[in-house]
Amino acid sequence: MSVEFQASETVSPARRVVGRVRVPGDKSISHRYAILAALAGGVSEIHGYAPGADCASTLTCLAQLGVEVTCLDPASTSRLGPTIRIIGRGLSGLQPPNAPLDAGNSGTALRMLAGVVAAHPFETTLTGDQSLRRRPMTRIVRPLRQMGAEVEAVDGRPPLTVRGGTLSPIDYTPDVPSAQVKTAILLAGLQTRGRTIVREVATTRDHTERALRTFGAHVDVDGLVVTLEGEQSLRGTPVAVPGDVSSAVFWAVAGAALPGSAVEIVEVGLNPSRTAVFHVLERMGVRVVLTPGNRRETPDAVDEEPVGSVQVAHGTLRPVEIAPAEVPGLIDELPALAALATFGGGLRVTGAAELRTKESDRIAALVSGLRALGADAEELPDGFEVRGSRPLAGGVADACDDHRLAMAFAIAALGARAAVVVQGADAANVSYPGFFATLASLCR
Ligand code: S3P
Repeated sequence: MSVEFQASETVSPARRVVGRVRVPGDKSISHRYAILAALAGGVSEIHGYAPGADCASTLTCLAQLGVEVTCLDPASTSRLGPTIRIIGRGLSGLQPPNAPLDAGNSGTALRMLAGVVAAHPFETTLTGDQSLRRRPMTRIVRPLRQMGAEVEAVDGRPPLTVRGGTLSPIDYTPDVPSAQVKTAILLAGLQTRGRTIVREVATTRDHTERALRTFGAHVDVDGLVVTLEGEQSLRGTPVAVPGDVSSAVFWAVAGAALPGSAVEIVEVGLNPSRTAVFHVLERMGVRVVLTPGNRRETPDAVDEEPVGSVQVAHGTLRPVEIAPAEVPGLIDELPALAALATFGGGLRVTGAAELRTKESDRIAALVSGLRALGADAEELPDGFEVRGSRPLAGGVADACDDHRLAMAFAIAALGARAAVVVQGADAANVSYPGFFATLASLCR
């Protein structure tokens, strides 16, 4: 198989990192708004739709399912994300695709769309790039089969073939804490008569619950139990996607890392199910201020997602341990935190075996990349340890086709004694086109 991301970026050490930034629209929220807009009646306009490759995959797949998707400002140079207009087809109104749906690098797109097509009376094949074709799908195959869909996977992995139809509601406890699994079940349940219940084993991001409300559905959340009455019709609506907190965290970490640094990230999503990373930063000794309030400029958009700004300034770093119970709340931010730990302090993470099933084996690839730069880091079976005992030397780190690793190695590079070459740096385009240009603009 060929390597899919090949461009390198060279990142030089920095003295300090200073500035104010906006980050592209949130990936998780964008996928959900696009899918719910497709299942709604009427027109939706999604402002600030995540501009990366992952969310583009969702739009392409929806178009293959007969949804009219228009980018209203295709010539826009804004890297924060375009406005997307979607004409909904109503519940269970999608059309059979005439080719496999290609979710690219996006596990979120593939798993959620599997839940959508499971309630449609036709066959859909869902596949993706070589990284996605290695990722586990049994977690969604099992509940969708229980609901009555015929779903086949190849050794538990994509391609998935879904032969959907009229489903039965389900009362289900996923075996992993996963917002993607919860969402796949809720999307199938939305199109099914009766009450679907998901009992989570740990809190995961609640964007689907909020988005369903934004599109007019009633969802009941009682602690870890989410209940959705099926066949509630959704209505199209204008929505605005806040900046992606998982992207913002790279700048927060950059602002925290070097003495004299200070960074402000504005118009970023501050959904409490995504902000655990900032509490960990505080534990590490970083000065963090979250200020709720300033929304993106979209006068007519109404939604349920909290937005605000984050200010971060350098503080003396302390070693920190992340306990297994904390992991689901900051799973995507662990590479950024590992990068920060190389500046001093240190980080030990356990209970995070799930990292091995992300866009790469994020435990192996993270530790191997940091060690290649001279870090004192080691793999644990279900996590990793980075000791911030010495500055990085510099060198070459392979992002292993993983956007979050490309960005984490770039941030770690700021504290190295010599330049760092990030191999496969173009993987950053999956969630953050323009990341390296913004990095250059913030470094002094
Ligand atoms: C996501 C949920 C998380 C996260 C992923 C996006 C989502 O995955 O890691 O980047 O949008 O629901 P899991 O649901 O597999 O934990």
